[in-house]
Parts: sequence; structure tokens; C-alpha cells
Amino acid sequence: MEIIKGTKVITVIEAADLAQLQEAGAIIRRGGLVAFPTETVYGLGGNALDPEVATKIYAAKGRPSDNPLIVHVARPEEVEALVTRVPAVAEKLIERFWPGPLTLVFAAAEQVPRRTTGGLDTVAVRLPAHPVALALIEVGGCPLAGPSANLSGCPSPTTAQHVIADLAGRVDMIIDSGRTGVGVESTVLDVTVSPPQILRPGGLTLEQLQQVIPAVTVDPTVVQDTPPEGGRVRSPGMKYKHYAPKAGVVVVEGRPTAIVTKICSLYDDYVSQGKRVAIMATTETAHLYGQRQTSIVGAREDLATVAANLFDLLRWFDAQGTEVILAEGVDMVGLGLAVMNRLRKAAGYRIVKA
Ligand code: TXA
Ligand code: MG
Repeated sequence: MEIIKGTKVITVIEAADLAQLQEAGAIIRRGGLVAFPTETVYGLGGNALDPEVATKIYAAKGRPSDNPLIVHVARPEEVEALVTRVPAVAEKLIERFWPGPLTLVFAAAEQVPRRTTGGLDTVAVRLPAHPVALALIEVGGCPLAGPSANLSGCPSPTTAQHVIADLAGRVDMIIDSGRTGVGVESTVLDVTVSPPQILRPGGLTLEQLQQVIPAVTVDPTVVQDTPPEGGRVRSPGMKYKHYAPKAGVVVVEGRPTAIVTKICSLYDDYVSQGKRVAIMATTETAHLYGQRQTSIVGAREDLATVAANLFDLLRWFDAQGTEVILAEGVDMVGLGLAVMNRLRKAAGYRIVKA
């Protein structure tokens, strides 16, 4: 164990290390906060049924308290106590996709504090596919509220080092289990409406959901290339600039060859202005940028690699002192929908069509 700015950091890699989680469980039981790994990104965990804990979570993240928290459970049976009704379609989805990167939004039971749900009468529930997360829920003895374990507005954490950078000194314990696998957060699906609607694209793809619910819809704000508008968003600056590194991000969208041409000319313009600029490229195109500063996020052919590296690379550019990141857009199919949703938000919707 290591202590960083007063936060305990423990390493739990093997199932055999789970005994180490006893202390983490004790922290949860006395109302403390423990950052934990999931298959998507690291979460900031605390007792989901204690409103005081929700308040602590919002404070630790610097997150506005009207942005609801996801409740993590270890067994499907735990859902019933959290919701007023489990629609038949939700049962099917749970059967097929849990454990996994799918969060379901239900009508909330009374016992779920409205501070956990950001004041809403609905609650988002997920059963993560990570043995350490599941063991922590069991040993803590309660469902865990778990937003991503980053400071609000920063890229989500895919390693314990990211969590330490953001939250050391703000939480009681951080559990290091290495890199998360999926790299983007879970898909949030509202099952209180018929047909169900995707509110946030994520690690479980639209195409996978369509296999079970052919009529599933996607909230239009998810796919649009301009910032969401309207009465529901009261604090635009806060709500649009998600996942953002310190560097400015520009996303260039179009066909790969056109993207490369456009990025080269933007790059050269920024360099002539004296800016520190870098390119977030794909395996297929990276060699086309010549001497320009280029990093590969993953392969267009296998978007899971892009999802897995996206947040880590955004943080890495910041560590290099990059001022402008020119990011290649990818096709919005499969995991590309989640990747582009995050990239566009990281860019504050600075999108250039190639
Ligand atoms: O993969 C994930 O989902 C990660 C890991 C840690 O589980 N968690 C995560 O939590 O991404 P967070 O809080 O960063 O994002 C939760 C998202 C937010 O966009 C929030 O608005 C939405 O889920 N959400 C939560 N409860 C909701 C509800 N009752 N209705 C609609 N959206 C909800
Ligand atoms: Mg988050």
C-alpha cells in the first residue's frame, strides 16, 4: 500500500488479492469513498443509498449535483429493490448483456436517495464485468454509486494513475487494477420509454442492442455535430465541455484521405502561429503525415482499439504540453458512435468537415 496526499492506494490484480478489499469494504460501510476499476473506466464508489455519500461524491469530483450517478450492483436480483418496475424488455437485456457495459434507466424506488439520482425520479443501474468491482460491492454490503473517477469535465480515467492525478487527496482509497479494457463508459439506455432510447452511447453498441430490441432509438443530441441546446441544459459551458483535455481539440471528419489532407494544412497553419500541435491519427493513416508530430490512437479497422486508448492519449498529449490536438474522426458505426460522441464533446464541438 502507498499513501498519496492522504489517499490510500492499493493494488488488486489477481482474484487471490481480493482479501485486500476488506479495508475498502470497511471504508464503504462507514460512508467513505473508494475509486475502483470496472471494465469501462474507473469509478468513484460510495454507498448509493446514503444521501450524504452522494454529496461527498459530487464534491470530490467537482460535479454539479444535478448530474445523476449510476448505481452499481453485483447481482441482477439487486435491481428490484432500487426500482418500481422492471419492464420485460429490461429483463431480456439483463439476461443478455449483464455483466457488461450497459446501464439501464428505471423508475426509481423510494429508498433511492434523490441526491444520488440528481433529483430525478429515475435511477440508472449497471452490473459491471470486473471481478474487483463485483467483489467491492459484495464486501461493501451495498449498491455503489459510481460516476467516472475523474474531475468533472476531464477525460475519464482508464488507469489508476489517471485517478491519482485527479482525485488523490479527495477520496479515501484508490484500487489499482491496471488498465481498464473497454476504455469508454457504459451505454446508458432508458427503459422507461417504449421503445427504449440510448441516452449515452458507450461500450455496448447500438448494433448489439438492436439484436434484442430492433426498434431501439438514439437520443438525437448523441449524434448531432452541434452542441445540444434548449431549456434542459442550464449551464452550457459546464455541460458541453466534457472529457476535455487542457489542450484545444479539433475533430476533422470525412473520408480518411480528405481528413489527412485537411489535418496537414491545419497543422502547418498552427505551427506557423507558433503553436504546439499534435495529430491523433489511426494506424491506417499515421504514415501519411510525414515529419509532423503524430500519435496513433488505434485502428479504423478495429474501433475497440480506438475506444481503449482515447482517454489515455488525450491525457498524454496534455502531459507533453500540447496546445492543439488535431483528431481524426472515425465512422459512427459500432464503437465509433461512442468514440465520436466523446471526441466531439472533448473538442467542445470544434468540428471541421474535410
Ligand atoms: O461505464 C460507466 O458507466 C462508468 C463506470 C464507472 O461504471 N460510470 C460513468 O458514470 O460513466 P458517470 O456518472 O460519469 O456518467 C453517468 C451518465 C451521465 O451521463 C448521467 O447523466 C447518466 O449516466 N445518468 C445517470 N443516471 C441517470 C438517469 N436517472 N437518467 C438519465 N441519465 C442518467
Ligand atoms: Mg463521467
